[in-house]
Amino acid sequence: MEIILHQYNHLDSTNEEALRLISDEMAGEGMVLWAHEQTHGRGTGENSWESEPGRNLTFSVILQPHFLEPSRQFALTEMISLALFDVAERRPGHEFLRIKWPNDLYFNNKKLAGVLVQNMIKANQIDFSVIGVGLNVNQKKFFSDAPNPVSLIHLSKKEESLSGLLDEILKQLGYYYEKIKTDIKSLEGLYLQKLYRMGEWAGYSDEAGIFTAKITGINRYGQLLMTDRQGNLRVYGFKEVKFLDKVS
Ligand code: BTN
Repeated sequence: MEIILHQYNHLDSTNEEALRLISDEMAGEGMVLWAHEQTHGRGTGENSWESEPGRNLTFSVILQPHFLEPSRQFALTEMISLALFDVAERRPGHEFLRIKWPNDLYFNNKKLAGVLVQNMIKANQIDFSVIGVGLNVNQKKFFSDAPNPVSLIHLSKKEESLSGLLDEILKQLGYYYEKIKTDIKSLEGLYLQKLYRMGEWAGYSDEAGIFTAKITGINRYGQLLMTDRQGNLRVYGFKEVKFLDKVS
């Protein structure tokens, strides 16, 4: 994957800018949009993304994975989660790192990074994929009501170079992007090995209420598979299940 890096001092949101470039037919594979400040950083759903200007990484990667069947688009989520995990793993304290389904990076039950993947499907093909990453790097205090944030500096105990870190992430991303083409199964295996609460009993809630279950895997569509105390199999899509803090 050849990288074409665009840097911005301010943007509303790197994902929004990527979508605009795509609709203006100005986007291409490997374009990376990196903003030092986002005025309207987007989180998943209706959430916003807090990031102190110049202290963290906020960027989006534009890809054109035409080779990937839309039903396997979760591989893109696995790819970015694994790339972020690998880079964070090079820092001290890495034994507490986990990928929280579907694509948050967690350190010690706290959120280190969030990812917003937006895929555009056309004629049963993934025409474009926009992979937006918010990685907390050097920010020590958070002011919004974002639940439990943490930064890489809490692992490394020293300021990190943002451009060096971006470079590391993009290299790992390139590695896993090739893996999707040649050995998609290996991504699934690695992702499961790093999954937060895999095989552990813990509390969750869905629209029917609170329950205790353990995660048993992910299916090929990226849905979360769980078994509850009664032995029932439960299958959840994104936002259909909430992780509760305390084991019940
Ligand atoms: C989440 O809610 O966990 C996803 C957060 C994604 C934030 C990143 S920051 C760069 C990119 N541009 C955005 O507006 N959002 C994503």
